[in-house]
Amino acid sequence: MEKVKEKRLFIETYGCQMNFSDSEIVGSIMTEQGYTTTDAAENADVIFINTCSIRDNAEQRIRKRLKEIKRMKKSNPNLKVGILGCMAERLKQQLLDEEEHVDLIVGPDAYRDLPNLIKTVDSGRRAINVLLSEEETYAEIEPVRLGNNSVSAFISIMRGCENFCTYCVVPFTRGKERSRDPETIVNEASDLVTKGYKEVTLLGQNVNSYTWNEDGAEVSFPQLIAKVAAVSPELRVRFATSHPKDISDELIKTIANTQNICNAIHLPFQSGSNAMLKKMNRKYTREWYMERISTIKQYIPDCGLSTDVIAGFCGETEEDHQETLSLMDWVGYDYAFMFKYSERPNTIAQKKFPDDVPEEVKSRRLTEIIDLQQKLSLRSNEQSIGKVVEVLVESTSKRSEADLAGRNDQNKMVVFPRKHYQIGDYVQVKITSCTAATLIGEAL
Ligand code: 5AD
Ligand code: SF4
Repeated sequence: MEKVKEKRLFIETYGCQMNFSDSEIVGSIMTEQGYTTTDAAENADVIFINTCSIRDNAEQRIRKRLKEIKRMKKSNPNLKVGILGCMAERLKQQLLDEEEHVDLIVGPDAYRDLPNLIKTVDSGRRAINVLLSEEETYAEIEPVRLGNNSVSAFISIMRGCENFCTYCVVPFTRGKERSRDPETIVNEASDLVTKGYKEVTLLGQNVNSYTWNEDGAEVSFPQLIAKVAAVSPELRVRFATSHPKDISDELIKTIANTQNICNAIHLPFQSGSNAMLKKMNRKYTREWYMERISTIKQYIPDCGLSTDVIAGFCGETEEDHQETLSLMDWVGYDYAFMFKYSERPNTIAQKKFPDDVPEEVKSRRLTEIIDLQQKLSLRSNEQSIGKVVEVLVESTSKRSEADLAGRNDQNKMVVFPRKHYQIGDYVQVKITSCTAATLIGEAL
């Protein structure tokens, strides 16, 4: 009997960690359909692009990539192309109309329908499913791990967001908030430990609003993370992202009291100005945020702190911008994701507030933010010189084959000479020097 030719799927992922986690769920669903994942687009029978809509430049990048894929399809007419994720959800049919070489459009809650959709595409028609769900968490689907190491994995614990920050498209593309059955989360973590993984990151748009009701008893996020940490003392547990309005004392104490929950919190502040925070509908003030940071520092003195910040939101004045800089300086973040405000169609801000900060002012403010963060990161890293940190080795260093790279508890990147150590080892490293981005040391 002639062997059926194996079908190869290439998935390219843009945007947040949640998208990377979703791609692993898609990989799993497609594997069930007889596909194998490949990391070479040229050899693929099917290409999926898992897309991001958070800022206009993310969408522009993807549009460019789609032009390249169009050329690939010219030389290989049997190639099938699917667009997944937030852009699929935001643009729906419009995307099929505009990109005539695309065969398939699938929103983030419709991946279980992929087997049917692929059948439609195989029969020569185009297919679309962008229904959002109030329940879908892909709870029992075992993700195909697409990451490039077998050390660290993502576990999605909830989906969607209902915060409706006025600038943000996510509540429209990812729908209502829903939490995943804690038993399936703990099982996934145990399974990863059995397979040799050493670190998991619990993912959700707003993990602090995780909640699960079982027989009248509530499982909260602090309880969930404690359960995951109890799977193995050898397993590092991280999480992202927290909303400042919901980060509770209970969570902070749980992190402080649990050895293998990493001392690192990503707490986006977006702006240091109360006027901007109000306009952004962030539901907290500068003072509230500072109090939360003080509490974190009180219980977890060596906590790694990172953030997201937006420059040039609607009506932002020079004083508002200075308040952003002064808050950054006060917190002393280790790391930050820094963005220029990008107006998104149909968001509350787009409907209510003019995008009135001139482009060159946005750029200049962003540069000031980046320059400050560079100094803060360097200052924070310099404080580690002379100290010994525990590093979980993730990979060979990008710069040199002779060095290994990994992270410490605070999520700082550490590089050191390889010697006999291997990927997946926990290594005690004495820090001898640093840059703003990396700690450099010697294994003890
Ligand atoms: N423009 C710029 N940055 C944005 N973010 C979300 N929406 C926008 C937007 N319209 C940023 C926020 C958020 C991060 C994921 O992306 O800082 O925390
Ligand atoms: Fe967007 Fe705000 Fe939800 Fe984050 S919390 S995904 S910024 S709406």
